[in-house]
Amino acid sequence: MLSKLSKPGRGACMPVKIAPSLMCANLLDLKRDIEQLERAKVDLFHIDVMDGHFVPNLALSFELAEKIGRSTSVPLDLHLMVERPEDFIEPVRRIKPAYVSFHVESTQNPIRLARAFKALGVEVGVALNPSTPVQALTYLIDELDYVLVMTVEPGYAGQKFIPQVVHKIQTVRAMLDATRANRALEVDGNLNAEWARQCVASGASILVAGTSSLFRDGADLCAACQEFRHRIEGRPEQRVWNFFTDNSQQFFAGRWSSTRGKWRVRYTENEMCLITAGKVQLVSDAGSRHIFGPGDAFVIPSGFAGSWEVIEDCVKVYAIFESRVPLHKPSVE
Ligand code: DX5
Ligand code: ZN
Repeated sequence: MLSKLSKPGRGACMPVKIAPSLMCANLLDLKRDIEQLERAKVDLFHIDVMDGHFVPNLALSFELAEKIGRSTSVPLDLHLMVERPEDFIEPVRRIKPAYVSFHVESTQNPIRLARAFKALGVEVGVALNPSTPVQALTYLIDELDYVLVMTVEPGYAGQKFIPQVVHKIQTVRAMLDATRANRALEVDGNLNAEWARQCVASGASILVAGTSSLFRDGADLCAACQEFRHRIEGRPEQRVWNFFTDNSQQFFAGRWSSTRGKWRVRYTENEMCLITAGKVQLVSDAGSRHIFGPGDAFVIPSGFAGSWEVIEDCVKVYAIFESRVPLHKPSVE
């Protein structure tokens, strides 16, 4: 359970949950991936069910969702991308997910359906496509336990995040808090650490983690999950600068702060850091140990594996750039 994550300035703090999207897992070795994620103590398993009509794709089936539900103690988060979701109340009853969401664009009677799912004793939510205005929630929101804001158009993993949705998350958070506080706000689609941080700062409390945060070829999912947590923990970013030089390369910079803590880390990009306050210690699996304090600048190369420890509450300014950029500055090894 993510203990330290919080969202300052939004009333009661809500712990932020990570929900790996199992459609992105290695479906030929799903049990192994599930076990690795269980070891990382993930909060939910995000299960995408598609019908080839509401979205032009097929992902996981109700039958497989039922089998997954019987094989793990991790609660399920069912995301229905189907036309007429009201035709699928029975399979949802059999699967007994903790959460079920359907798309407001997929049914004529969302209030009747929300109540039908609610009667099954599950948390019910409505998903909004990126271009669907928040007004679609106006007369519906009181029936809901949470809202899922899509940050990509539904149907495929590995798409690019749609930045204009960040503002929509803030509006939905305000709508949720205006009527009944502490309701979850889920975001789904291309959530790498930076976008996840911006979504949390805007009011998101459930993060669907897919190909841009966890499921990379051969990745150790337990370590990848801990690194994802490490990158979104601490106080939300006050400033994130995104520099898109071109479609093939992304360059992020930001400010990160945290209280004392220790995390296992594995870097998949290069990160340039400047410590502006506090003290941190990096210990690599290779055995090298580095302590950095105010004014120290260093580069953590992609591939670094070890631990990151905040010895004194720290603030760092950092820049992340893709691993193929050659390193000039001395780095930790
Ligand atoms: C897309 C699904 C997502 C998807 C996320 O329609 O709803 O859950 O699996 O995968 P990424 O994070 O790669 O976009
Ligand atoms: Zn989904």
